[in-house]
Amino acid sequence: MRHRTLVPLSVFHKTNEEAILYGYSIPKNTTVCPNIWAVHFDPEHFENPEEFRPGRFLDGDGKFIKSNRVIPFSVGQRGCLGQQLAKMEIFIILIGLLQKLRVGPDPEKPLPSFYIGGNCIATYEPPQFEVVFKRR
Ligand code: HEM
Repeated sequence: MRHRTLVPLSVFHKTNEEAILYGYSIPKNTTVCPNIWAVHFDPEHFENPEEFRPGRFLDGDGKFIKSNRVIPFSVGQRGCLGQQLAKMEIFIILIGLLQKLRVGPDPEKPLPSFYIGGNCIATYEPPQFEVVFKRR
């Protein structure tokens, strides 16, 4: 959810009063576009951010380390209302699939780059790809 940020520019908001952020004044009625992608790819907090390395969130004992810099659902009072439901659905669907099926590339249809490509209007969409599901 960090590496392929699904809603990279979150949802636009508007200031209802002047706000001061890091010394900058943001006037009342300014449209604000939160850049979640930039947070997720900030090299100051994620070494080689372009690299897909889930192990970066595990400690020496293999336990998950929660990072407050991973914010796919945005933050604050207007953060995603469906966060709990979405996480639950992703968990149930993904685990349900992986328990029963092996997922692999189709040797005749090479996968697109994992790192480049895709489209984004409001939500990120990876390039088209096909995979083969086999019963375990
Ligand atoms: C992986 C799945 C999802 C992601 C990554 C995601 C991400 C987001 C983000 C970034 C926002 C903008 C938050 C903001 O304005 O600060 C948002 C808003 C919202 N999301 Fe989601 N969302 C997901 C799934 C869902 C689901 C399943 C539901 C409902 C069943 C949902 C309902 C909403 C609603 C109602 C808002 C508007 C909240 C508000 O403006 O107060 N989302 N979501």
